[in-house]
Amino acid sequence: MRLKIAKLPGDGIGPEVVEQAVKVVDAVCKRFGHEVEYTFAKVGACAIDEFGKAYPESTHKICMESDAVLFGAVGDPKYDNDPTAKERPETGLLAMRKQLGLFANLRPVETYSSLVHKSPLKEDLVDGADFLCVRELTGGMYFGEKGRRDSGDTAFDTNLYHRYEIERILKLAYEYAMRRGRHLTIVDKANVLESSRLWRQIGQEMAPEYPEVTTDYMYVDNAAMKLITGPKFFDVLVTENTFGDILTDEASCISGSMGLLASASIGEHTGVFEPIHGSYPQAAGKNIANPLATILSAAMMFEYAFGLMEEGRVIREAVTASIVAGYTTEDLGGSQSTSEVGDWVANYIAR
Ligand code: IPM
Ligand code: MN
Repeated sequence: MRLKIAKLPGDGIGPEVVEQAVKVVDAVCKRFGHEVEYTFAKVGACAIDEFGKAYPESTHKICMESDAVLFGAVGDPKYDNDPTAKERPETGLLAMRKQLGLFANLRPVETYSSLVHKSPLKEDLVDGADFLCVRELTGGMYFGEKGRRDSGDTAFDTNLYHRYEIERILKLAYEYAMRRGRHLTIVDKANVLESSRLWRQIGQEMAPEYPEVTTDYMYVDNAAMKLITGPKFFDVLVTENTFGDILTDEASCISGSMGLLASASIGEHTGVFEPIHGSYPQAAGKNIANPLATILSAAMMFEYAFGLMEEGRVIREAVTASIVAGYTTEDLGGSQSTSEVGDWVANYIAR
């Protein structure tokens, strides 16, 4: 197969971790006889520096013309304490999601038995936890009308959801639930928010279409608690954009390190595959960041963008092997550098 990949390393540790994922993708392509072509493009702070825009039109064009986007991270501390900045690195990520129509963000949470001791939670509580978070990605407060009034002293963000947006994400979540453990938890705040009441209403309308799936409705505050007191309860968790942002950061701690959590954003156009950890500027350029989340995102890319399941499995197997061998970066208790872990995983696949 011929694979056209847009390579968007972005900012901070993005370039270092994407480089490792590229080594792994190359090793997989070599082993399975695929031809791969990368097109580099800028996004985030580095794109603002060069083009004045965090998601320039030229980058969008490259994404549209590719089969998948391999993404690192965006963000730069110089924007963090400047609330007046018009163009921010994060604006680029949001524009990309919107323009590519990526309404679904899939964040699987898996645990590795040899790593459960790294989890801040009790081992028996997390060992075996395995669930999929499905976060709505192009609606809600992130994109609803926002602004200031009263000479800037009043601010608002609108949590707007249309029926079609809720229906398509719930449909997807049900489809994943059917393929997994047939248990869907719809997370909302329907006791307070009108938008959540619409989510719950549509969930109740759709549930009978999936009689094999057990549907639960859970308030987001309760879900936040359940994620740390009993993560094994979950199979597929679906929720709106802002709740999903918060809950998936929380969920990322379960497995022991944020450096392990991969994600896929899919929807109308080219899918984006990225680690959830962000740009981690303190580590940028030091060759210490954990590349496994990006490598696992590449596994998701093979599976979701190319339908190449065996290739994805081989990457996962190599990642697990590196963890079992203790050949990891510091966050996982090892002493290897970013590039050493990348080389190890790529060599494991090539051997
Ligand atoms: C994420 C990130 C982004 C978000 C930021 C960088 C805009 O935190 O992908 O979870 O809030 O969606
Ligand atoms: Mn986030």
